Amino acid sequence: TRHLLGIKDLTEKDIHTIFETADSFKEVINRPIKKVPSLRDVTIANVFFENSTRTKLSFELAEKRLSADVINFSASGSSVKKGETLLDTVNNILSMKVDMIVMRHSFPGAPHFLSKHINANIVNAGDGTHEHPTQALLDTFSIRERLGDVAGKKVVIVGDILHSRVALSNIFALQKLGAEVMVCGPNTLIPKYIDQLGVKVENDIRKALKWCDVANILRIQMERQLVKNFPSTREYSMYYGVNKELIDSLDKEIVIMHPGPINRGVEITTDVADSEQAIILDQVENGVAVRMAVLYLLAGR
Ligand code: CP
Repeated sequence: TRHLLGIKDLTEKDIHTIFETADSFKEVINRPIKKVPSLRDVTIANVFFENSTRTKLSFELAEKRLSADVINFSASGSSVKKGETLLDTVNNILSMKVDMIVMRHSFPGAPHFLSKHINANIVNAGDGTHEHPTQALLDTFSIRERLGDVAGKKVVIVGDILHSRVALSNIFALQKLGAEVMVCGPNTLIPKYIDQLGVKVENDIRKALKWCDVANILRIQMERQLVKNFPSTREYSMYYGVNKELIDSLDKEIVIMHPGPINRGVEITTDVADSEQAIILDQVENGVAVRMAVLYLLAGR
């Protein structure tokens, strides 16, 4: 059974195949009739043990555009609250003749664990601080769309690298596609293992932005901080907040990205987030086509 557990497992060719498939689906969903019958008779469960707006809705829409049957599960309000395990929960869902599981879980490795115990396609929709593969695919797809190619581009990921699955999946995807990658933030938010990933590290946001073609701005994951509120949001925005003054001080135009949700006025100001050089809502739009491609390719139809 095929899965998408992480970008780490993909080849450059796999990513290009996903992009080319997503190109076709993007064309489809911009037509007056946005649906194709590709996954008719395939049943997909979106199983979310952690909060989500974009990923959950984007998968649901991608599945519906492909004509799949869709059920949605959120841990809050479910029998998980009565002590049911992850495996029991998923096995009960699969008993209802479900073919694919899209899962978000706060535990790193949860979808990998599941893949060893169940007989259904699994798509990782974010596992704790580990990977968020479809986010990295839609991010790199959006860079390709805006700049023509990902290869040779300089991309800085700014902020809470330590707790970010978006950062790790993006690092893998960008490197496989031939981009140069830098991470920028205070040392307290940069993981110790960063040296093993072959990325540049820069603590000075101005230097990082001057270096890059694309800046992917992340929020501080307050829900995952072991030491709460460290650094404080006020301190963080003072030293690392991307604002208009900083952007205007660069002698070139860079592309601004953010995976969402945005904490406006903390990691990015509203004038930058809503500017012409920001592709934040393009990323969200592309998420549907990219997820359609992933589901279609995994289903092997
Ligand atoms: N980018 C992202 O994963 O957003 P959600 O947490 O809202 O799904």
